[in-house]
Amino acid sequence: MKNGTNFVPGLEGVVAAETRLSHVDGLAGELIIGGFPLAELAANATFEETVYLLWNGRLPTATELTTFQHKLAAYRTVPPATLALLKSVAAENAPTMDALRIGAGTLSLGVPNEQLALAIVARFPTIVAAYWRFLQGQEPIVPRTDLSHAANYLYMLTGAEPSAARVRGLETYLNTVVDHGLNASTFAARVIIATNSDLVSAVTGAVGALKGPLHGGAPGPALDTVFEIGTPERAELVLRAKLDAGERLMGFGHRIYKVRDPRAEVLEAAAEQMFAADGDLALYELAKEVEATAVTLLAEYKAGRNLQTNVEFYTALLLHGLGLETDLFTPTFAISRAAGWIAHCLEQQRYGRLIRPQSAYIGEKGLAWQPISLRG
Ligand code: COA
Repeated sequence: MKNGTNFVPGLEGVVAAETRLSHVDGLAGELIIGGFPLAELAANATFEETVYLLWNGRLPTATELTTFQHKLAAYRTVPPATLALLKSVAAENAPTMDALRIGAGTLSLGVPNEQLALAIVARFPTIVAAYWRFLQGQEPIVPRTDLSHAANYLYMLTGAEPSAARVRGLETYLNTVVDHGLNASTFAARVIIATNSDLVSAVTGAVGALKGPLHGGAPGPALDTVFEIGTPERAELVLRAKLDAGERLMGFGHRIYKVRDPRAEVLEAAAEQMFAADGDLALYELAKEVEATAVTLLAEYKAGRNLQTNVEFYTALLLHGLGLETDLFTPTFAISRAAGWIAHCLEQQRYGRLIRPQSAYIGEKGLAWQPISLRG
């Protein structure tokens, strides 16, 4: 207790919102999304069904889903001003997350307030894919309205219609990361919307929060380790060398989960299915061997720490299998999480209150003003 306030660094353990959207139990290794255990929802739902569930509190009927899909698809095209801006950002070779943050700020252009939620979710993939193509010196591919949200994203990146296995792999990934309690970017979005600001402002702030390596920016290095190992028999040698050098094994350990991250479970199964149908199964087998060796070695080197596989490990493998380069991993995470941010904003608008914690002042008091000529 300082200055009459309870200071909780990082707000750890502080409950700052009630939500019906998702529940994270780190000790049981349980993640509930919209009432469903993650494994039940992720591999079965289309992304559009998941978004509908989060925004409406229940799954859609067939007619409701068709209407929702059409409404969402109708908003995929971004205004010429957004494309022009993205092109000039590409000339500076900025990271894709920076471009997404800049592009996100333009999403209110020409869209009525009540349609902003749809436009944001519909246009995030268009911004990411268009920027990615500008970076490669190519023109953006016009979105198609006859493809699903996931299929259209992959199509806009390459111009090729993706296989059903790849679309399913991406849908499962998007469903898996759509919401995760009061994580930093979601909290940022809720703080912004709680001032009665607008959805575009909330989502743009959330993109900024997600960009940081302590939040959404870590899956690339997990994959680098798998590639560095190269063949299963080298796993122990390479991982021991890293641990002996005091390095952390990327894709392992979590602040909340003390058992295997349930998202790793779902993404592992999705990766296996996708790699078996349309990919490099040897890479999947190698990753499994790396994971098993890493968990065994972490138990030896960090006994009692319960360091298990986290979401990043199989995210990296799955997204790589989809043909995405590492700079696209966090933006693809954002494409999904945008729907979760909006769901939280809608919830905050319905039940919430201005979020305004206090600070404990630890500075000086009673200083006397000094004219500049006397400072020094
Ligand atoms: N590899 C090796 N050791 C690890 C480790 C890892 N991946 N993660 C944690 N540890 C060790 C720490 O070195 C520390 O050991 P020590 O007490 O002997 O110094 C102990 O476990 C506790 O670590 P701490 O940093 O307090 O845990 P945390 O809850 O703050 O960390 C992470 C959570 C995710 C930041 C951490 O596990 C990590 O850095 N993982 C690797 C990066 C990663 O995969 N990030 C994506 C997260 S989704």
